[in-house]
Amino acid sequence: MSKEQIIIFDTTLRDGEQSPGASMNTKEKIQIAMQLERLGVDVIEAGFAAASPGDFEAINKIAQVVKNSTVCSLARALERDITEAAKAIEPAAKKRIHTFIATSPIHMEYKLKMTPDQVIKKAVEAVSLAKNFVDDVEFSCEDAGRSDIGFLKDISDAVIEAGAKTINLPDTVGIRLPNEIGDMIAQMREHIGTRAIISVHNHNDLGLGVANSIEAIKHGARQIECTINGLGERAGNAALEEIVMALKVRKDVFSDVYTNINTKEIYPTSRMIASVTGIEPQPNKAIVGKNAFAHESGIHQDGVLKHKETYEIFSPEEIGLNKEDTLILGKHSGRAAFKDKLEKLGFSLNDEELQSAFERFKELADKKKDIYDDDLRALATSNITGIESAYELKALQLMDSTGGVPSAAVTIALPDGSEVTDAGIGDGTIDAVFKTIDRITDTHGVLMDYKVKSVSQGKNALASVTVQVAFNQDEPAVIGHGLSIDTMLASAKAYLGALNSYLSMRGLLKKRTPSSGCTI
Ligand code: KIV
Ligand code: ZN
Repeated sequence: MSKEQIIIFDTTLRDGEQSPGASMNTKEKIQIAMQLERLGVDVIEAGFAAASPGDFEAINKIAQVVKNSTVCSLARALERDITEAAKAIEPAAKKRIHTFIATSPIHMEYKLKMTPDQVIKKAVEAVSLAKNFVDDVEFSCEDAGRSDIGFLKDISDAVIEAGAKTINLPDTVGIRLPNEIGDMIAQMREHIGTRAIISVHNHNDLGLGVANSIEAIKHGARQIECTINGLGERAGNAALEEIVMALKVRKDVFSDVYTNINTKEIYPTSRMIASVTGIEPQPNKAIVGKNAFAHESGIHQDGVLKHKETYEIFSPEEIGLNKEDTLILGKHSGRAAFKDKLEKLGFSLNDEELQSAFERFKELADKKKDIYDDDLRALATSNITGIESAYELKALQLMDSTGGVPSAAVTIALPDGSEVTDAGIGDGTIDAVFKTIDRITDTHGVLMDYKVKSVSQGKNALASVTVQVAFNQDEPAVIGHGLSIDTMLASAKAYLGALNSYLSMRGLLKKRTPSSGCTI
């Protein structure tokens, strides 16, 4: 019996980016798209072109570099969304427009304020317009999980007639149980037959995203929309790595299907996404969590030592986690070895980025004897800020606060290249640092969240600090990451990183001038 392909549609760069705090810049998205291509995903949903000029630019650049995977843009069933999507993906070797409209009674009545007939008309217009630009058009019935099955059949018939090749049935609010998804897919499969590919997109609000996707495959879905590390809106989407490994490990059950995923790229991809977004998978996360292969109890350790399969259902090597590879370069390693290792980790930096990452690597290697893969990933990602002419931390000096007032002296290079030094006090050392940065940059940030974690092991491990700062109470808070062996330095860098992102998103970076402090 010939096997059928399960198309893996990755939406880490679109739905995944909708995770609170997961926004990525264009350069980061390009690195991720290239890694997703190496992983073997069939379709990369690179963003939502009409959402912002930044989204458009990222999709367009990804369309220029990705060759093997299909590059897709999301578009509401609106003329402008579809034309923007078409323009953004234009350079791609393989391209798709993914258009959608809500089909559940609650969404049609309260959100769209449209009748079911009007919704069908809009959907058909959208698909017909998209077909003028690309052959590969996907149509999604948003909130299919709460839609009437008869209506799903009617709208699917209409959009297939207009040219849609894939019908996606998202459980947008993650409310369905596996048997219910299985039933919906079986009915739709019977109705649609071979006229279009049936796809699912399961959110994880009840923790059932992966189970629902697996059940959908059993009942005939042949495209799965998913994200790395399960990122996504609210509780996230079904995790790519869990679905793919379930199909692989349980090939006894799924002998009739296959995916194009190179599972050895799962772990490197997961680490890259965690490093770029600052969102670590929970330690006990299936497949890629830090503890996924940690055997803690004596009985388990004894069993694994005697025969691995006693407690391991697949080997770490199958997902590209090679323990012997994790301890890598040291202070005597050269530029070529450094570049080679970064490429193996999935990063291709330009000459300037490489030089700056290498200098930082040498500085780190002076202080830290063993440098691990995660250290390098952190160095590489903190090097692809994508922001030119940013504020840059030059020096930080903290006054001894024992019994006194916590204070900090900060030197910052301004976007115009000049340097400013100023000092300030605060309720604690971090407060003093942030307040002084505010004074130099003439801003006022409100710290919403502060996280510090060590990147790898060892007493002198790199500290990775993530801050979430609101620079304007009417706008969403922005995220900044900072990296250093010194936690305070990492904190100052993270705060400046958040400020740089905030100003750059508004095109304000180059216009700013110092308001206080002395230029040196
Ligand atoms: O969850 C959802 O319904 C979506 C669609 C836009 C596919 O993300
Ligand atoms: Zn979604």
